Amino acid sequence: MQNRIYVTREIPEVGINMLKAKGYEVTIGKDKKPLSQKDIIKILQRAEHKGEPYNILLTLLTDKIDKTVFDIAPSLKMVSNYAIGFDNVDVKEACTRGIMVTNTPGDYMGSIAEHVVSMTLSLCNRIAEADHFVRKGRYKGWDPMLMIGHDVSEKTIGIIGAGRIGEKVSYTFNKGFGCKIVYVDQHKNENIERDCGATKLETIDELIKQADIISLHVPLNDSTYHMVNQDFISKMKKDAFIINTSRGPVVDEKYLYQALKENKIAGAGLDVFEFEPKVTKGLIKLGNVILTPHIASASIKARNIMSTVAAENIINFVERKVVVNNCTK
Ligand code: GLV
Repeated sequence: MQNRIYVTREIPEVGINMLKAKGYEVTIGKDKKPLSQKDIIKILQRAEHKGEPYNILLTLLTDKIDKTVFDIAPSLKMVSNYAIGFDNVDVKEACTRGIMVTNTPGDYMGSIAEHVVSMTLSLCNRIAEADHFVRKGRYKGWDPMLMIGHDVSEKTIGIIGAGRIGEKVSYTFNKGFGCKIVYVDQHKNENIERDCGATKLETIDELIKQADIISLHVPLNDSTYHMVNQDFISKMKKDAFIINTSRGPVVDEKYLYQALKENKIAGAGLDVFEFEPKVTKGLIKLGNVILTPHIASASIKARNIMSTVAAENIINFVERKVVVNNCTK
């Protein structure tokens, strides 16, 4: 059977070229905006009806792939998700139908760590706020009390989820700034304990008590949905910051907004949002929050690796039936 791949939107061409070089038929969606599930269904249905069905979908994290999609696309054998997270795909349902699902981890965790550190530096040194202040023409002369911030080097970093990304974030803060690292994870991370002197804490409460900067690196699932809730936020130090580059719904945004507005915590760096792309009303007015549009892995290097890995996953599946980044296991 001819391998027909539908790529839901444009991605860096390196991966596309790899697929084309294998002789696969590759179609790339032309939309610039995320597709609705209806759009995806229409595309797959049309191809099935034409007798030229897609057997592989290369999806983005904005594509909701579940039972409804699988039902109308019986020829689908694989979903190669262009992202580390794969909460947009119903993996359990895919498993029951024997559909392979893969994701794109790779040697670019440093790119994400850089984004976490950038947000932290910007918050602690009040960079975005200060830039806004100057642009607004509010700088009237040097003032010893103006925009006093925090030294990152004095901070204890609390890593929630010390996997590949959390590990890189730990190294960057510890080796770059000498920060103390504490973490929670189901597993012990020997690398950061050995190289950064990181301490594994037994509970999230202990981490909240100690950390000045909390960085979230967990997947989104039933156990992490709204993990950062009213109780979590109320236990944070008054001068603590929280950075979220994981998935928006890990944080209950209304309570975070309330705490930021009332200065109950020092600030937040959000690259992801609970109702993405919508941002909780009011957040954009606050000076103690940095907002970026889900771009923590948007460096040239990271995006090219993601594209390569998404293509490699497909090639491995088609040619060798061996898949390295198998999410269904
Ligand atoms: C981005 O958020 C990703 O999961 O790769």
